[in-house]
Amino acid sequence: MASRHEIIEKNVALLVLLVLGAISFGSLVEIVPLFFQKETTQPVAGLKPYSALQLEGRDIYIREGCAGCHSQMIRPLRAEVERYGHYSVAGESVYDHPFLWGSKRTGPDLARVGKRYSDDWHRAHLINPRDLVPGSIMPAYPFLAENTLDGQYTAGKMAALRTLGVPYTDTDIAGAQAAVEGKSELDALVAYLQGLGTVIKGKR
Ligand code: HEC
Repeated sequence: MASRHEIIEKNVALLVLLVLGAISFGSLVEIVPLFFQKETTQPVAGLKPYSALQLEGRDIYIREGCAGCHSQMIRPLRAEVERYGHYSVAGESVYDHPFLWGSKRTGPDLARVGKRYSDDWHRAHLINPRDLVPGSIMPAYPFLAENTLDGQYTAGKMAALRTLGVPYTDTDIAGAQAAVEGKSELDALVAYLQGLGTVIKGKR
């Protein structure tokens, strides 16, 4: 008589089904608690939602694919912490929808790049990286300085984020368009970069 194990081994469909069941169970056990742990759901002390201008900057960061070359996730390893500063904690990205941790580092990690350079440095660097870092392979984004924002959708974006738990006030949303209208895409991107990782003070 075939053992129960033999039945499973000889029946591919059943085997696949049971494997899927085992993996799903394992994943749920690991993932579900994360939705309820304070460490992963509560903002770190002092964390503020992105300003209207920073939010537009973040969307430009996503549009231009900066995340394809830059991670925003400092791992708790000595080499990383010495180079970039305090390792990233989950509570820093609770207002990020979607988060931009990334996994590809053609360029340096940007999780704590905020305040590391001046606004002027970032402007010049984005317009032509080679002017400041000879030999840089980062693309130039000179058009960002010429594109002007009209802020048409900014309030809508903030209202949508509020439904996901980002604590924007009615005043924030009402003033959103005025806060970005007429600013350049470069202004917005630099405002976003200068805020990155500044809530937790680390070395650098
Ligand atoms: C093709 C890959 C690539 C893309 C795409 C890219 N970068 Fe870079 N980036 C680099 C490299 C390489 C460096 C290091 C050399 C340098 O500073 O220019 C760098 C450096 C930087 C630095 C300085 C970081 C530091 O700590 O010195 C910032 C800020 C930055 N990039 C922002 C951006 C932004 C914003 C975008 C999207 C608009 C972007 N990068 C797109 C490759 C890239």
